Amino acid sequence: MKTDNQIILAIETSCDETAVAVIKNGKEIMANVVASQIESHKRFGGVVPEIASRHHVEQITIVLEEAIKQATIQYSDINAIAVTEGPGLVGALLVGVNAAKAIAFAHGIPLVGVHHIAGHIYANRLIQELSFPLLSLVVSGGHTELVYMKEHGSFKVIGETRDDAAGEAYDKVARTLNLPYPGGPHIDRLAHEGSPMIDLPRAWLEEGSYDFSFSGLKSSVINTLHNAEQRGEIIEPQNLAASFQESVINVLVTKTVRAAKEYGVKQVLLAGGVAANKGLRRALEESFSELPEIELVIPPLSLCTDNAAMIGAAGSIMFEKGIRSDYALNANPGLDLEMNG
Ligand code: KG4
Ligand code: ZN
Repeated sequence: MKTDNQIILAIETSCDETAVAVIKNGKEIMANVVASQIESHKRFGGVVPEIASRHHVEQITIVLEEAIKQATIQYSDINAIAVTEGPGLVGALLVGVNAAKAIAFAHGIPLVGVHHIAGHIYANRLIQELSFPLLSLVVSGGHTELVYMKEHGSFKVIGETRDDAAGEAYDKVARTLNLPYPGGPHIDRLAHEGSPMIDLPRAWLEEGSYDFSFSGLKSSVINTLHNAEQRGEIIEPQNLAASFQESVINVLVTKTVRAAKEYGVKQVLLAGGVAANKGLRRALEESFSELPEIELVIPPLSLCTDNAAMIGAAGSIMFEKGIRSDYALNANPGLDLEMNG
């Protein structure tokens, strides 16, 4: 029996986590179940799309049942099903989209396709009400963007990476240092044991640009390591990790602060898997402590990496705005954030 509460069942399968959540009134997490496949992909040093799809197929029903059980709801309580429509791996996305369509059709529940990055941004609404205009720094394995929002569901990308995403750079540098996948958390840990004594480049790009570039930095780390090896010198991985991390954070934080001031935002949100980075969290906190008129919101670690609670939070707003998907909803690996919402 439906109540006044809005209950969203959310599904996320865009990469290597099979995730289902139940969200009440857009903000309250009733269940948030994540089945990670990291162990299966580790030995290949990255996500293998075929393996990801197969795991999603094996896990989706189990994770769905667990989320419904934890939330102590029935299908008849659900107002809408929110599902990640894109971007992501097409075979992985398809598993979530088809599960969502099957439940929507079987139980006559409205369906809402959600952009994965809108989800990462809305993870913040699970801990703090959003105030507009706001700016979100999105840093994940596939994206690095500064997104301006003047109201709910409106996304304007004011800067983005021209090559590697921040998380991708972390993962590639980690591989060079023989660290396991995903490398971000390992570099983060090492960085805190070393000191940023190695001079590495910072890609500021043209004056005033909010775009990013990390491939030059990544190559520079690899070259530094190889040159040292050829000369028979030893470079402490801790110091290399600390220097790399400082370079990434320096550019991310400087551009975020500048954009926040220029656009006169009330809030700055951190979003995406790299938002779990301790150095980045601390550097943003330090910078924004000097700008008390701007509220900085940083999600807890469990809401930074891929999960379905964030898809439910974004889907809730879209549902309220009257946005619906039909049964022709398909996985869209190249879904555009600005057109979504
Ligand atoms: O958002 P996410 O879970 O998946 C994508 O949508 O891409 O982000 C995964 C990325 C990986 O590249 C991973 O190495 C990175 O987030 N990551 C981190 C940390 N934790 C996860 N990067 C830096 N420091 C961390 N602590
Ligand atoms: Zn993600």
